Amino acid sequence: MNLTLKIWRQKGPQDKGQMVEYKVTDISEHMSFLEMMDVLNESLVAKDEVPIAFDHDCREGICGMCSLHINGEPHGPDRGITTCQLHMRTFKDGDTIYIEPWRAKAFPVIKDLVVDRMAFERIQQAGGYISVNTSGNTQDANAIPISKYNADLSMDAAACIGCGACVASCKNSSAMLFVAAKVSQFALLPQGKVEAKDRVLNMVAQMDLEGFGNCTNTGACEVECPKSISLENIARMNREYLKASII
Ligand code: SF4
Ligand code: FES
Repeated sequence: MNLTLKIWRQKGPQDKGQMVEYKVTDISEHMSFLEMMDVLNESLVAKDEVPIAFDHDCREGICGMCSLHINGEPHGPDRGITTCQLHMRTFKDGDTIYIEPWRAKAFPVIKDLVVDRMAFERIQQAGGYISVNTSGNTQDANAIPISKYNADLSMDAAACIGCGACVASCKNSSAMLFVAAKVSQFALLPQGKVEAKDRVLNMVAQMDLEGFGNCTNTGACEVECPKSISLENIARMNREYLKASII
């Protein structure tokens, strides 16, 4: 395939940035999207030009690092996958593809397609953990009965990889789906109930502090989430928050 790429280039956080056009040729439909970006970068390096900065790590849908806005959609046009799992067979010869970074005030651009997602780390630090007794007398986790229903819901919430596509897809740049997934994975299990109240209050407070917008139930986040995290988690977080606020 021969393709035209229109890619956001930005030298640093203070740079204004702009879309720059590139051509790539002989792209195999079997390549992943990121491999296609590698081909482009190799050609830029060969011409002594600065390669395009973009985030990636595992390249198998686990780490949450890859984060491209492709033709106006976080992680591109397919559903339930990350950018690194997107393949070039999704596109046609002659296509023009627009590639941009996540756009949100709380995710400032560091360079080109790389944004600073430390806001998510700070939200996790505000409460996304449980305290564990490591005295040697720790209760065996298998001795704590948990219903299959709740275990499944908790596992579904724990599938969130913290990529930030929910924020990028939201007209309010809301992080509610991410925070709700983190709150839910613990709120559904007995081990998470001990700190449940502080967790939801602190994580929501940090989310607001970071400058994410609020949720207006548009649902774009659920559609674009590569791990299909359900909006039900937001409803659960709101219930947890209300409970924690009045008790
Ligand atoms: S909720 Fe989905 S879109 Fe949002 S950070 Fe988690 S995995 Fe990514
Ligand atoms: S590079 Fe790890 S999820 Fe895409």
